[in-house]
Amino acid sequence: MTKATVLTGITTTGTPHLGNYVGAIRPAISASKDPNVSPFYFLADYHALIKCQEPERVRQSSLEIAATWLALGLDTSNAVFYRQSDVPEIMELTWLLTCVTSKGFMNRAHAYKAAVAENEQSGENDPDKGITMGLFSYPILMAADILMFNAHKVPVGKDQIQHIEMARDIAGRFNHIYGEHFVIPEAVTSENAATLAGMDGRKMSKSYNNTIPLFEPEKKLKKLINKIKTNSLEPGEPKDPDTCTLFGIYQAFASAQEVGVIRQRYAEGIGWGEMKSVLFEYINEHIAPSRERYEALLQAPHHIEEQLQEGAEKARAVSVPFMKELRKAVGISKITA
Ligand code: TRP
Repeated sequence: MTKATVLTGITTTGTPHLGNYVGAIRPAISASKDPNVSPFYFLADYHALIKCQEPERVRQSSLEIAATWLALGLDTSNAVFYRQSDVPEIMELTWLLTCVTSKGFMNRAHAYKAAVAENEQSGENDPDKGITMGLFSYPILMAADILMFNAHKVPVGKDQIQHIEMARDIAGRFNHIYGEHFVIPEAVTSENAATLAGMDGRKMSKSYNNTIPLFEPEKKLKKLINKIKTNSLEPGEPKDPDTCTLFGIYQAFASAQEVGVIRQRYAEGIGWGEMKSVLFEYINEHIAPSRERYEALLQAPHHIEEQLQEGAEKARAVSVPFMKELRKAVGISKITA
C-alpha cells in the first residue's frame, strides 16, 4: 500500500495561539503519528515575506513555530519537517508553474481581489496600489509547495480552499502540456474542526489582534483569560454556554464528560470570574508539560536547527531528483548527456 502524502505549510509571521493549536497544529501532530500517512509539514518563510517586511519578526516566528511543533511531540521520524527556503527546488518549480499559469486566472484569486476591492472602496484611483507581485502570484508559490512533493491531501482552513483549486488547475495544465508528472492534490477541511473565538468574541485571529498565545507563561495566560469578553449576567443567573467564548475554548480542550459537567454549571448560573478560573486551570494544566519543553527548546535553538536540517535533507531527497525530471520534461537540460 502506498501511503498518502499529507502536506501543509505554516506562514512564519506570528506566534502560535490557542486557535492555531486546536484548528491546525493538534490534528497535524496526531496525523504525524499515523503510520499510514506520510506527512510533510513546513515553515512557509517565503510566504511570510508577502505580508511581513520585518526581518526580525519572520526570524522569531520561524523559531517559535518550529519550537512549538517539536514541543508538542511532532513525530519527526515519520513526518518531514522542514523550512521552505531550505528547499530551493520549490522556487525553481514556482517558475515552471508560473509559465503555464494564465494571468486572467490569477486575477480571480481571493487575496488579490480583496486587496483591489479595498483600494476601490477607499476611493483610491489605482486599484493595484500597494499590491506586490508576491501577493499577486502567491497561489503559484503555494502550488509549487504542494506539487513538489506530489501531496495527495492538503489540510487547510476554509480560506485556503481556492488556493488548492488553483494548484489542481495548474497541475492539470502542466500535465497536459508536458505529461503526467503531478498528482492532483485535494483540500482537506474538517467541518468540525474547532474554531475558537478570541478575547473580543470574534474568531481568534492574528488580524483581529485578539489571540491568546499557546505558550504564554502562566501569569500572563491567566491575565489574558481574565480579559475575555463576557456578557453582564450576574453569578446565579443561568447562562448560555453555546454562545460563550469561555465555554467554546473549554470545549476544545476538555473531554465530553467534563464539558457536560460545565454545561450543567452554566445552567446553575456559574459566575464569570469562577468560569474564568476553571478555564485557566484547565488549559494551564493541559499545556504545562509542552510549555516546559518549549521553553527548553528556545534555550537550545541549535537543537531546533538540527531538526530542520534533517527535515530539509529528507525533503531534498525527493525534490532534487524530481526537479531533475521536471527540467528535462520542459526541455531544460545540458546539450550533451
Ligand atoms: N498559505 C497558507 C496559509 O496562509 C500557508 C501555506 C503555504 C500552505 N504553502 C502551503 C498551506 C501549502 C498548505 C499547503 O495558511
